[in-house]
Amino acid sequence: MFLCSYESDIGPYPGLDNSPRAAVFLILFGLVMLLILYSSNSRNEDFRYTSTIGRVTLPDSLKEWGVKNGYLPVSGNKTLDRHCNQCAIITSSSHLLGSKMGPEINQMECTIRMNDAPTTGYEADIGNKTTFRVVAHSSLYRVLRRPQEFVSKNPDTILIFWGPPIKMQQVLNKVIQRVSLSFPSMSAFVATGKRMYQFDNLFRKETGKDRVTSRSWLSTGWFTMVIAVELCNRVHVYGMVPPNYCTQNPPPRKLPYHYYEPKGPDECVTYLHNERSHRGNHHRFITEKRVFANWATLYNITFSHPDWD
Ligand SMILES: *[C@@H]1O[C@H](CO)[C@@H](O)[C@H](O)[C@H]1NC(C)=O
Ligand SMILES: *[C@@H]1O[C@H](CO)[C@@H](O)[C@H](O)[C@H]1NC(C)=O
Ligand SMILES: *[C@@H]1O[C@H](CO)[C@@H](O)[C@H](O)[C@H]1NC(C)=O
Repeated sequence: MFLCSYESDIGPYPGLDNSPRAAVFLILFGLVMLLILYSSNSRNEDFRYTSTIGRVTLPDSLKEWGVKNGYLPVSGNKTLDRHCNQCAIITSSSHLLGSKMGPEINQMECTIRMNDAPTTGYEADIGNKTTFRVVAHSSLYRVLRRPQEFVSKNPDTILIFWGPPIKMQQVLNKVIQRVSLSFPSMSAFVATGKRMYQFDNLFRKETGKDRVTSRSWLSTGWFTMVIAVELCNRVHVYGMVPPNYCTQNPPPRKLPYHYYEPKGPDECVTYLHNERSHRGNHHRFITEKRVFANWATLYNITFSHPDWD
């Protein structure tokens, strides 16, 4: 059960970055109020935005989905027209700790990170360059309350948010818009409602399971992988374990799920609990990785730390 709340838990509010700007605090105050509202109706959220109204057909190849139509700018009329020959996805798992991959990662043309995975303090292992950051609705507050780390540190970063369309429209888009007022250089996009249904349809097509009736949550890793394939000719993934990793015998050594939460939950405990749970909604991390394995040859995806055979 602790994992149910893991998804929707907004968490405590420790150490706001020191900011000289009173305006930032005003905005953050507004943000907190909005998020209290948001979290008060998202307890036990079942993420049940429908999969039946939105049966949107989509091209067989993810490459033909059309990035420009799938993500709308939070402000202005920008389009997401960045395209990269080579991208690195740097996962949030702790497999990269001690790897010293930072310099190699920094040389990649584009780098993609997830949610509130910070680079400060971890540069030697994971680099400090962030071209894209894919952020879940449930991590939105954790990202936006540290604009120095996630917005202004790397002014070229493009933030891409995803979440249940109703929640995004009712509350969260406004939160992002407010923050972008104090950081005019911030480049932020939100997955459209139609694109969210396409992600569900893709899950059904690839797994044979309906996301809603199988009580599954898609992970930020799922969105990130699809977005990477849309944006990049080649993708290298750092720090993602293969599908059979947690069920191997003998079991792998224990490692924290997130590199930046050394005392947080164990990776395989988290994966296996989510994969096997039927009460409540859960992430299907292992199912998703089986799909990624199928995509590897189709879409030029490679994996290291650990390697996938
Ligand atoms: C959209 O952006 C273009 C330039 O990128 C600009 O010429 C045009 O006026 C903008 N349209 C609106 C409605 O802001
Ligand atoms: C990354 O680190 C290098 C070397 O320390 C520095 O020159 C560069 O400005 C940093 N880039 C960012 C985006 O922090
Ligand atoms: C895979 O990458 C190579 C080299 O960048 C490229 O020529 C090829 O078109 C890519 N294949 C796919 C399916 O994107």
